[in-house]
Amino acid sequence: MIVGRRRLKLLGILMMVNFFIYVIVEVSKNSGQDKNSKRQVILPTSRFWRKYIPHKAYWNKQQQKLEDLYNPIFALLFNMTLEERLSSNNSFWNSCDPDPSISSDLKDFEDLPDRFKDFFHYLRCRNYSLLVDQPHKCKHKPFLLLAIKSLISHFDRRQAIRESWGKEIKLGDITIVRVFLLGQIPPEDHYPNLSDMLKFESETHQDILLWNYRDTFFNLTLKEVLFLKWVSNTCPDAQFIFKGDDDVFVNTHQILDYLKSLTKEKAKDLFIGDVIRDAGPHRDTNVKYYIPHSIYEGSYPPYAGGGGFLYSGDLALRLANISDQVLLYPIDDVYIGMCLQRLGLSPEKHKGFKTFDIEEKQRDNICSYTNLMLVHNRNPQEMIKIWTNLQDPHLSC
Ligand SMILES: *[C@@H]1O[C@H](CO)[C@@H](O)[C@H](O)[C@H]1NC(C)=O
Ligand SMILES: *[C@@H]1O[C@H](CO)[C@@H](O)[C@H](O)[C@H]1NC(C)=O
Ligand SMILES: *[C@@H]1O[C@H](CO)[C@@H](O)[C@H](O)[C@H]1NC(C)=O
Ligand SMILES: *[C@@H]1O[C@H](CO)[C@@H](O)[C@H](O)[C@H]1NC(C)=O
Ligand SMILES: *[C@@H]1O[C@H](CO)[C@@H](O)[C@H](O)[C@H]1NC(C)=O
Ligand SMILES: *[C@@H]1O[C@H](CO)[C@@H](O)[C@H](O)[C@H]1NC(C)=O
Repeated sequence: MIVGRRRLKLLGILMMVNFFIYVIVEVSKNSGQDKNSKRQVILPTSRFWRKYIPHKAYWNKQQQKLEDLYNPIFALLFNMTLEERLSSNNSFWNSCDPDPSISSDLKDFEDLPDRFKDFFHYLRCRNYSLLVDQPHKCKHKPFLLLAIKSLISHFDRRQAIRESWGKEIKLGDITIVRVFLLGQIPPEDHYPNLSDMLKFESETHQDILLWNYRDTFFNLTLKEVLFLKWVSNTCPDAQFIFKGDDDVFVNTHQILDYLKSLTKEKAKDLFIGDVIRDAGPHRDTNVKYYIPHSIYEGSYPPYAGGGGFLYSGDLALRLANISDQVLLYPIDDVYIGMCLQRLGLSPEKHKGFKTFDIEEKQRDNICSYTNLMLVHNRNPQEMIKIWTNLQDPHLSC
């Protein structure tokens, strides 16, 4: 009886609220109509589209050209299908010859540091082949694919990751697989020839992906793009991907717990990490991330720091597709931010990603590591120590 009365009361209140909302909506509708009571078509008196301002900076200008190429309206204008137009310009946009017009198009080209010259001469080339592949890596649909950016000479870092947070496991329906992403060190860079050692490592562990491009800081974007294409071709069913550096500690347990807790919608567009917002290019010539005005103008979209981020396999396939429409940019994590922006997405900040490390006095306390996802940076010995301590069944935090 009492319950019934309460319900009636609630219903009455709801009806009254509904009525008020109705009144408010009607009133605001009428006052809105007053402005155009004759229901005429409103013709704008000034320009209502964005003004076409040609970019001055080289990268922006080239990116604009690439976007024009993918613009279906331009294709129509030339009486072509988009596919016809793309294939007619294929040799230009995929050229691997040093760009002959770069020094005339980029006015201070000759004065730029060598890494910029190397980068912009081969800006449009991205079809490097795989020298070492792991074609069966994803035979059993992985729940989590760990992709770690490394350099050939970092044998000890890779081994520490294998022995600690990067173990390949199969636990019930949870499969974790691991790949290291490597490029070449060409002989003209005067490094010792480690290819026999790498061959041994690859045969022993079967977790090496090696592409035939020169592995430098500015070529990390190439590593990113080649990896995304590899995922599309060889690992399209991976449910989640962690991609990061070989000098971070990752609490894999924490990542698994987080991933298992996600709802389906949240999981589909997942992209989390240590997100940097409202940033732009560094203009200080001494910084590793320095980008001159003549190359890039404007701010950066939100992006997740390249030390490590976590995203869905579904999103990886979309990123692989959209990357065709984004010119390579010398900073790899910014590049992924640019691709996400074009997909209408934005990376989400998660406080478990400590790419700027944790407080010094907390670093030796194992309980500081139980709730975080990633911390930068840890050397191989520290990685194994932290991991071993985390496994302690008597650990109580
Ligand atoms: C198509 O390729 C030519 C060079 O063959 C180039 O000059 C032109 O800018 C390209 N057009 C587009 C829209 O990319
Ligand atoms: C457009 O192309 C089609 C087929 O290639 C051709 O039949 C048609 O005449 C062309 N139209 C114009 C306006 O050039
Ligand atoms: C990439 O493809 C172009 C043609 O589209 C070819 O000329 C070039 O040699 C290829 N580059 C590599 C590194 O395979
Ligand atoms: C490095 O060593 C391997 C195997 O010994 C050899 O095949 C390769 O040509 C060497 N590379 C260079 C650049 O000398
Ligand atoms: C990137 O790799 C390509 C292919 O090896 C090379 O030609 C280019 O110089 C490299 N770029 C940088 C910035 O090192
Ligand atoms: C990627 O592009 C290919 C070819 O255009 C298309 O078939 C595929 O559905 C796209 N995949 C995603 C995930 O957008």
